[in-house]
Amino acid sequence: MPDRFFVTTPIYYVNDVPHIGHAYTTVTADALARWHRLLGEDVFFLTGTDEHGLKIARSAEAHGVTPQQQADETSARFQETWDLLDIVPDRFIRTTDPDHTATVQAFLQKVHDNGHIYRDSYAGWYCVACEAYYEEDDLLPNPDGGNGLDPVHERPVEWFEEDNWFFRLSAFEQPLLDWYAAHPDAVGPEGKRNEALGLIKQGLRDISITRSSLDWGVPVPWDPGQVFYVWYDALINYATAVGYGTDPERFAAWWPHVHHLLAKDILRFHCVYWPAMLLAAGEEPPASIDVHGYLTVGGKKMSKTSLNQIFPADLVEEFGVDGFRYHFLRDNSFGPDGDFSYEGMISRYNSDLANNFGNLLSRVSTVVAKKCDGIGPAPRPDSPLAAVAAEALADATAAWAAVQPSMALDATWRLIRETNSLLETTEPWKLDPGPEVDGVLGDALEVLRLVSILASPALTRAPQEVWRRIGLSGAPTDRQLPAAAAWGQYPGGLPVEKAAPLFPRLKPVE
Ligand code: ME8
Ligand code: MG
Repeated sequence: MPDRFFVTTPIYYVNDVPHIGHAYTTVTADALARWHRLLGEDVFFLTGTDEHGLKIARSAEAHGVTPQQQADETSARFQETWDLLDIVPDRFIRTTDPDHTATVQAFLQKVHDNGHIYRDSYAGWYCVACEAYYEEDDLLPNPDGGNGLDPVHERPVEWFEEDNWFFRLSAFEQPLLDWYAAHPDAVGPEGKRNEALGLIKQGLRDISITRSSLDWGVPVPWDPGQVFYVWYDALINYATAVGYGTDPERFAAWWPHVHHLLAKDILRFHCVYWPAMLLAAGEEPPASIDVHGYLTVGGKKMSKTSLNQIFPADLVEEFGVDGFRYHFLRDNSFGPDGDFSYEGMISRYNSDLANNFGNLLSRVSTVVAKKCDGIGPAPRPDSPLAAVAAEALADATAAWAAVQPSMALDATWRLIRETNSLLETTEPWKLDPGPEVDGVLGDALEVLRLVSILASPALTRAPQEVWRRIGLSGAPTDRQLPAAAAWGQYPGGLPVEKAAPLFPRLKPVE
């Protein structure tokens, strides 16, 4: 049986249209799914939208539409954006989907039956933008003198008092610490794991998991006058998608082989609340939770309130789908915050895509046309590039496994650069046709074959085109790693097409 790889993104709120921050996480998940498919694994890639709760109810009211209309419209914008970016989830889940309601109710009923839920009254500060309760100590001072500000959105919190159902989170402090100790690699990178441990060690208080003042949510089965707190509704989407409460066999096959990707804004929910709730339901916490930093623009987190959002479609128009995907996967190391700059995007595109990858293809096809009558020669078994290719495969494999796409692509591009250097030292364009020219061009064609496979999780278009131009049939994505990366499989004797540049150079900003 092949390994299973279940990868998720957060499900995004439908009060905001998709910007490059949402795209960053979602492209990363899509690329990881593609990499694991190349390895022959059974892959399930999930993304979607988070549609219930007060934040959405208020946003709909402000727009003069029903929450369902707001959700339908914005959810469609996310789906269109993912189509545009060649992001292909196996399921796009919506928390208004009927099977999700069934799963949320089954899951939380189980936690209730297990004795971890009780009734109490709640009074405290709530941030609607975060959909989260805050302790007085967590708030930032309000320069205007009103209620304190939440630390994520820096908006005034509101005072809420309600009779609610509570989850006994405090009882899971030690079980969580035990789980972290037993799974030292589950939460990463290291700094984010320490942050999560810090939150747990500070001490956990029970939390209200239902709302009585709202009806835009999933009804509580044992108290239909209330709906579940939107965060527990949302987190449970990961279980819905693999059949919790609706298809037990399917759930058993996929859980807990789940890899959550998210940014640090929602670390507490994924690294504390979610594993605790899973333990309370008698389930294993996720196999891994990988937390990245913020994409900033001009040094500030991109957000609706900062008015510094950048939209994927604008960048795709200029850089293409491959240019977009490559930039975000290569330029932002997964973990730390990264500042987006348009200048940086142009320079990365020009250096890696136009001058390295694109130029390798152009050179090879030009010289094959001139010196080999357009027929690609076979690679040399003892090529100096064989070892470089083996290293690229090993390094890329390790980097994808560690959720470091930037390092995986860097390893792949080292092979391209070495190949361009070999061409520059050999200068086959100056030599007479013969074995030396054939050897070096055969090696370069083999590298183009390999890179088409290794780059295919990031670039969804160019690899297929390179594959075709060097005369191969089928698609690079039909091949399976690591076998397909063994040196020397470009057969030679195939027609090589000379055509327009793969990545036309862009004019740098003056
Ligand atoms: O939090 N930089 O939804 P959300 C990097 N519905 N990533 C960013 C980003 C930025 N500037 N802005 C957004 C929610 N993201 C909940 C999630 S999950 C069960 C429920 C990405 O629409 C990043 O993945 O606010 C972040 O964690 C997520 O969008 C927050 O999306
Ligand atoms: Mg948010």
